[in-house]
Amino acid sequence: MPASASPISDILLTEAQIRRRVSALGAAIAADYAGLDPLLVGVLRGVIVFMADLMRAIPIPFTVDFLAISSYGAQVRPGQVRLLKDLESSIEGRHVLFVEDMVDTGLTLHTLLRMLNERRPASLHVCTLFDKPRLRLVKLPLRYVGFELPDRYVVGYGLDYHQQYRNLPFVGALSAQVLLPGAAPEDLAS
Ligand code: IMP
Repeated sequence: MPASASPISDILLTEAQIRRRVSALGAAIAADYAGLDPLLVGVLRGVIVFMADLMRAIPIPFTVDFLAISSYGAQVRPGQVRLLKDLESSIEGRHVLFVEDMVDTGLTLHTLLRMLNERRPASLHVCTLFDKPRLRLVKLPLRYVGFELPDRYVVGYGLDYHQQYRNLPFVGALSAQVLLPGAAPEDLAS
């Protein structure tokens, strides 16, 4: 396939880089939560690839549960969350680790943490694989961060663009051809 036809303009993180970082995150989480029987909570669907790898990197007992919310770009204001699927377990008195794929403005996470805190967990911390700190609109405590990313739209390793590209084993920036399909090639600077 010619380079210009590739949907990915450049690879930001390789499969090996992600694998090494996820292993390190798992080891840190296992050390901090030993004996606490933590509950890992993820938001469907972007987190599934990270969660599947992270779980296998945590060699202590824990349980896992998922929420589903209305997706990014849906007809809601930023930070406004519509719960499509609630947790199946009670989190009262549990040590909860909220596992995120990506935090950018932080508005979604802020809303979800407030909701979960009302359920009185013993503790509530966040592990995000990707962080875009330059886009943050609310202050959020992130206990574990995999990688800081620049302000670019990325796909792969569970992250999508219109539900596509989640299966890429690396993280890449989408080419302008995909993001701006109507633009003439001479208008696309990079
Ligand atoms: P926030 O409320 O702005 O922090 O939204 C975070 C959510 O937006 C993440 O959980 C992702 O689902 C989505 N998101 C943000 N940036 C990207 C990106 O570059 N690629 C794919 N999804 C993204």
